[in-house]
Amino acid sequence: MPNVVISGTGLYTPPQVITNAELVESYNAYADLQNARNASRIAAGECQPLVHSSVEFIEKASGIKQRHVIDKAGVLDPQRMKPRFAPRPDDQPSLMAEIAADAGAKALVAAGRSGSDVDGVLCAAANMQRAYPAMACEIQHALGCGGYGFDMNVACSSATFAIEQAVNAVRGGSARCVLIVNPEITSAHLEWRDRDCHFIFGDVCTAIVVEAEDNARSSDRWRVLGTRLQTQYSNHIRNNAGFLNRCEDTDPDARDKTFMQEGRKVFKEVVPLAAAHIQHHLADLGHTPQQVRRYWLHQANLGMNQLVMKKLVDRAVDDDIAPLILDEYANTASAGSIIAFHAHHADMQPGELGVICSFGAGYSIGSVVVQRV
Ligand code: COA
Repeated sequence: MPNVVISGTGLYTPPQVITNAELVESYNAYADLQNARNASRIAAGECQPLVHSSVEFIEKASGIKQRHVIDKAGVLDPQRMKPRFAPRPDDQPSLMAEIAADAGAKALVAAGRSGSDVDGVLCAAANMQRAYPAMACEIQHALGCGGYGFDMNVACSSATFAIEQAVNAVRGGSARCVLIVNPEITSAHLEWRDRDCHFIFGDVCTAIVVEAEDNARSSDRWRVLGTRLQTQYSNHIRNNAGFLNRCEDTDPDARDKTFMQEGRKVFKEVVPLAAAHIQHHLADLGHTPQQVRRYWLHQANLGMNQLVMKKLVDRAVDDDIAPLILDEYANTASAGSIIAFHAHHADMQPGELGVICSFGAGYSIGSVVVQRV
């Protein structure tokens, strides 16, 4: 079996930023509007008034300070509260494919590769913008890649689950060089009108090149020592948007057609699962958590990452042991741990170990143990 490496990563960051202060101002304006509209029902005790959001709560509860989005104006419009995307004709690049091609091209440059070297494209993300043709086929076409492409969705763990598929494809010989892209337009699945979660997500796209170590051209190579995937069914993170909706005659804008979660339960249940998952994966590879130089963890909540790190190595999150990017990007679903890896690996030395780990809906947990070549 050949050694397999991650030989390049790429990142597309939307230029528009929403700070917590801007977000809260817009939410509070929306709440005031709703309360004015429902004034008589509120007075009659038929419904509760919406309560204002707060910057202090958001930063304390999550560690998030801002998020990048593709369309700021639509999100911040208190009469709209969601991004506005112009529909594109079928002969134009679709939005997910456009940002994926941007990040993918950057990852290929980092790996010293061109599209024609790629013979497998995995579009791995928490949402796909259409049913078919697969986004991956359009991205494959846009970048001039050969071979095959397919989409996969394991919510926030899509990227790590895709790394395992790519590693296995290269090991097994069904592909020589696989490009993974994670276009996460989470602003479209977030319910910006829900105070409990309106601060959580941001948009981004990451990309990863996976190939045989012997063939790799990049000097920045990360040998994949092992991958491990785990799922355990839970309804505590859920989104009921789907192709059956129109046949169910349900409202496409109803609350259950966007991201919903029981945040406290997720926090309590996922932290021990993720810590034990990483610990067992490392142990089976003959390593201890202390031997790992860096953890690139899923970026959903600062408190969750603090607790995972405490359980693993009894250390606080910092840029050396477990870099944080969610203060700038918020939760970017499957892309979060990949952004952390992309932005925080250049200082590591040959031989040093790192763990990329995602956790999210499913529940799903994926870990990738890497060593700098
Ligand atoms: N502004 C001000 N106050 C708010 C608020 C907001 N935007 N949202 C909630 N609150 C209030 C609540 O009303 C509640 O008040 P109460 O105690 O008077 O009832 C209080 O803050 C605590 O709310 P709670 O929902 O219990 O907050 P929390 O401390 O659990 O933090 C999360 C919320 C979502 C940040 C946290 O649970 C979390 O990160 N969970 C895991 C999320 C995750 O990883 N999800 C995966 C997504 S892929």
